[in-house]
Amino acid sequence: MSRETGRLAGKVACITGAGSGLGRAMALRFAEEGATIAAQDLREEAADETVKLLDGDGHQAFGGDVCDEGDMVSMFAQIHGTWGCLDVQVNNAGVSRLPGDGFDEMMAGQGSQMSLMGYEAFSKMMAIHAGGTFLGTREAVKLMGEGGSVITLSSIAGLAGWGPVHYASAKGAVLGFTRAASRELGAMGIRINAIAPGVIDTPMTADVDEAMLAPMVMMTPLRRQGTAEEIAATALFLASSESSFITGQWISPNGGLITI
Ligand SMILES: NC(=O)c1ccc[n+]([C@@H]2O[C@H](COP(=O)([O-])OP(=O)(O)OC[C@H]3O[C@@H](n4cnc5c(N)ncnc54)[C@H](O)[C@@H]3O)[C@@H](O)[C@H]2O)c1
Repeated sequence: MSRETGRLAGKVACITGAGSGLGRAMALRFAEEGATIAAQDLREEAADETVKLLDGDGHQAFGGDVCDEGDMVSMFAQIHGTWGCLDVQVNNAGVSRLPGDGFDEMMAGQGSQMSLMGYEAFSKMMAIHAGGTFLGTREAVKLMGEGGSVITLSSIAGLAGWGPVHYASAKGAVLGFTRAASRELGAMGIRINAIAPGVIDTPMTADVDEAMLAPMVMMTPLRRQGTAEEIAATALFLASSESSFITGQWISPNGGLITI
C-alpha cells in the first residue's frame, strides 16, 4: 500500500486514545493508507510511542483528557494551526472500569450486604465516553468540510446492556449522540457513525477475569475474540469515501455475538 494512493491519502485524522489497543491499531492502519495522524491520549508518552510506529512523516502526538474541555479546545486549536483542517475524527478514548467503582458489588449484593456504585464513578464514566465524544465531535467539525467523517466508539455493552451499568449507559449514550448528531451534520456534508465492537483482544480486555471472558467467547459464533486490526479495518471503511452514503448508523464487529 502506497501512502500516496491509499484510501486516506492526503487526509488528516485525529484519533483519541491512540496510545493503546484499538486507537493505536487505527492510527497504524490509517497512516498506511496515507493519512497524517493526530494521536491523542491521556498518557502522552503512549501517544508518542504510537507516532514512532507510524508510516510516513508529519504525525503528531497530543496529551490530554478527552473530558476536559480546555484540553480538547487546545488540541484542536493546535491541529488547526498545524494542518488548517481535519478530515477524520475518531472518538475512541475510553475505560471500562474505574478504580473503586464497585460495579461487582452492585450486581452481586443482596439486602443489607448490597454496596452500590458511587455516583462519582457513574458520572466519570459518562464524562469520558459521552462527554469526550461530544467535545471531540464539536471541536472536530469546526475544522471539517464536505466529506468529513466522525467515528464514535460504542460497544455491545451499549447495544445489549452487558457489562457494568456505568459503562453500558455511557456506550448507549454514544449511540444516541451519534444518531442525533448525524441529523445536524448531514447538512454540512459530514458523516458520523458508531462502531460497537464485541470482545476484542486489547489491553482493556487483558485484565478481565477469564471466568467472565470465556463464556462470552463460547457464545460467540466465531468462537474467538476479535483483533484490534479487525476494528481498524471497520474504522477505515467508515473513514473513507467507500462509506459515503452511510451516516447515523452503527456497525458491530462482534463475531456474531449479537445479531440485532
Ligand atoms: N476492547 C474491547 O473489547 C472493546 C469493546 C467495545 C468497545 N471498546 C471501546 O473501544 C475504545 C478503545 O478501547 P481499547 O480496547 O483500545 O482500550 P485500551 O485500554 O487498550 O485503550 C484505551 C486508551 O484510551 C486512553 N484513555 C483513557 N481515558 C482517557 C481520557 N479520559 N482521555 C484520553 N485518553 C484516554 C488510555 O490511556 C488508552 O491508551 C474504548 O472506548 C472502549 O470502550 C473496546
